[in-house]
Amino acid sequence: MLYIGIDLGTSAVKLLLMDGGGKIHNIVSKEYPLYFPHPGWSEQNPEDWYEQTIDGIRELIKGTDASQVAGISFGGQMHGLVALDKEDKVIRPAILWNDGRTAKETDYLNQVIGKEKLSEYTANIAFAGFTAPKLLWMKENEPENFAKIAKIMLPKDYLAYCLSGVHCTDYSDASGMLLMDVKNKCWSKEMTEICGVTEEQLPRLYESYDVVGTLKPELAEETGLSREVKIIAGAGDNAAAAVGTGTVGDGMCNISLGTSGTIFISSRNFGVDDNNALHSFAHADGRYHLMGCMLSAASCNKWWNEDILGTADFAAEQAAITKLGENQVFYLPYLMGERSPHNDPKARGTFIGMTMDTTRADMTQAVLEGVAFGLRDSLEVARKLGVKIERTKICGGGAKSPLWKKIIANVMDLKVDVIESEEGPGYGGAILAAVGCGEYGSVEEAAGKLVKVIDTVEPDKELVAKYEERYQKFKNIYPAVKGLFQKLS
Ligand code: XUL
Repeated sequence: MLYIGIDLGTSAVKLLLMDGGGKIHNIVSKEYPLYFPHPGWSEQNPEDWYEQTIDGIRELIKGTDASQVAGISFGGQMHGLVALDKEDKVIRPAILWNDGRTAKETDYLNQVIGKEKLSEYTANIAFAGFTAPKLLWMKENEPENFAKIAKIMLPKDYLAYCLSGVHCTDYSDASGMLLMDVKNKCWSKEMTEICGVTEEQLPRLYESYDVVGTLKPELAEETGLSREVKIIAGAGDNAAAAVGTGTVGDGMCNISLGTSGTIFISSRNFGVDDNNALHSFAHADGRYHLMGCMLSAASCNKWWNEDILGTADFAAEQAAITKLGENQVFYLPYLMGERSPHNDPKARGTFIGMTMDTTRADMTQAVLEGVAFGLRDSLEVARKLGVKIERTKICGGGAKSPLWKKIIANVMDLKVDVIESEEGPGYGGAILAAVGCGEYGSVEEAAGKLVKVIDTVEPDKELVAKYEERYQKFKNIYPAVKGLFQKLS
């Protein structure tokens, strides 16, 4: 049988067709616009996601025996607020995971309700991109829209709803709403009350590999797929990517270098760090994970190359880099503010340390290193918790760069395992579909059989020592300019 994994990303939806043995038959990518209506705001139209997904499905299965497609599942950008009215129409553009408008609401939740209470109710504290502060923002700033809300959904759940007619979500993605009690896997009564919503407005919770329904007959007609195609709940993109890279079970690590940058640590047991610096979320394998999330990762490199240098040839820019571990220029990668570990929507991108002999290559290198240092900030929190990590998988667009992988291995002192396909969330989505359709008994079994490591980037002792020294310097920069970001905002 065949399975479709849909990676609903921030710049594009990527669709992947996989067979039961894990072989990828086709990949299709469809872009849609991203809107920044104010500095630090970030929105998209859910209708654009849906239209591009349907077009993508048609293209994906062209020339294939469509009757062989048994299931569809998802890895979706997390935290986005999609609000539907009682006719199931989208009320306003979705407010995305990297939107920083909710500084006031985040402060209210963390300071007035209090971090301790939030952590008790949900296992997490408030971050600007999470869904709950967005609801509070909407309530205060767009009361007429807030009053119309019949259903609240996350981005991939909107697709699942359009395909199946079922209002559903999964535990991994719902964890990032700050409305779910992660430990007990149910909606938090306290949090729904604080946000002024009811459980009826929230979708039903499923495990990521659960079947939620079947493809609507009219869509089966339109796409050529069978009416029997199962729609499987899917996961937040990071949990789906973890499945797609075999980061399941206990103590495994995955780094995703996409628009965001995340470090994801799977765990059989529920756990929270003392300061809630890392997110404590449910995993798509039915267990839990800890995660640190940077809001701008590969997007920093894209911005630097395309918007500033005016080139699309990222490899040529990287080919000029020769001074690994010796760069005097530092870069803070906070183009959209920062989530982990600083939780500061007002932080901004910053270069520091340039001299008259600084080159274009030094600046490009600083961007790649700044992202690696930012990921290390989250790794340090996990290490302080006693989590022992010696190796990581890697996925996302940035993982295509051998140089970036080398920088990451040495900045973080980790062995970086490269897998056959770095299509993390799409591949993970297809695996979840295969599990939901009964091709495999569990997510762990499927990932164990399907994900293959093809190479390992080993850290080099000398370079690790040089980067250790650079990281100790990097760590001082944000605290020194933090106050300035507040004044400049
Ligand atoms: C995770 C997060 C991002 C988005 C990117 O908490 O906000 O990784 O899921 O799509």
